[in-house]
Amino acid sequence: MSVQNTIRRKTVPQIRNSKNNTPVVCLTAYHAHTARLVDPYVDLLLVGDSLGMVMHGMENTLGVSLELMILHGKAVMRGADQAVVVVDMPFGTYEESPQIAFRNASRVIHETGCTAIKLEGGARMAETIHFLSERGIPVMAHIGLTPQSVQTMGGYKTQGRTTDEWAALEEDARAVAEAGAFSVVLEGIAEPLAARITGQIDVPTIGIGASPACDGQILVLEDMLGLNPSPAKFVKEFASLGAAIEGAAEAYAKEVRSRHFPAKEHTYAMKK
Ligand code: KIV
Repeated sequence: MSVQNTIRRKTVPQIRNSKNNTPVVCLTAYHAHTARLVDPYVDLLLVGDSLGMVMHGMENTLGVSLELMILHGKAVMRGADQAVVVVDMPFGTYEESPQIAFRNASRVIHETGCTAIKLEGGARMAETIHFLSERGIPVMAHIGLTPQSVQTMGGYKTQGRTTDEWAALEEDARAVAEAGAFSVVLEGIAEPLAARITGQIDVPTIGIGASPACDGQILVLEDMLGLNPSPAKFVKEFASLGAAIEGAAEAYAKEVRSRHFPAKEHTYAMKK
């Protein structure tokens, strides 16, 4: 059997064609074991630069490097074999020019083997999205609350809460879709506007803190597993792993300190 026949990973055209069809299930993933566990249930895994905060305890995403994204991208690719894997372009690696964006994005694709990249920004990034897409790099766009702009936004604020903000956000969505983005993340956008944008563009919108009307949804895996001590208001927790980990650590510490465990546990026997 040829290598081609063994590949069963979903494709970018499949994601694009899910517009007005079945909802696109997306989660973030940063490491191999969790990627392997969730891979069968999702269409798309995003190696988000939120890993700066979640995995490395950074204050925001601005300190995340290309090398760090590549390291985690490789780990996720080793764990997941059916989902489309998208790797975030970190701050400072794509904004300057389409050429620099291509150099860095092609490095991400070469070194991780991922399917696509994601970058933040609306109309101002349209030229870059077009440049990358035309040269074989599928791009997922990200508009609305864009965390890499936290300093200029003055915090993580929901966008489009007043109708006078709507035209600019609608223009952002149109511009990235027309430039060739295969899907658009709508983050932290007021519900009626996110629904309206979804009806206006012909590529899938992927909501996070946006609207159930979006063509798909994404959550940070650790948030929905209950590992984040202060998740955003819109996050639904589907498990309580934070409490489970604390309970397991407590039980383990008790057992070790009491030395009351059977000899076969935590030990190796001598060979007979
Ligand atoms: O970095 C990230 O995890 C993201 C998602 C929240 C969309 O961009």
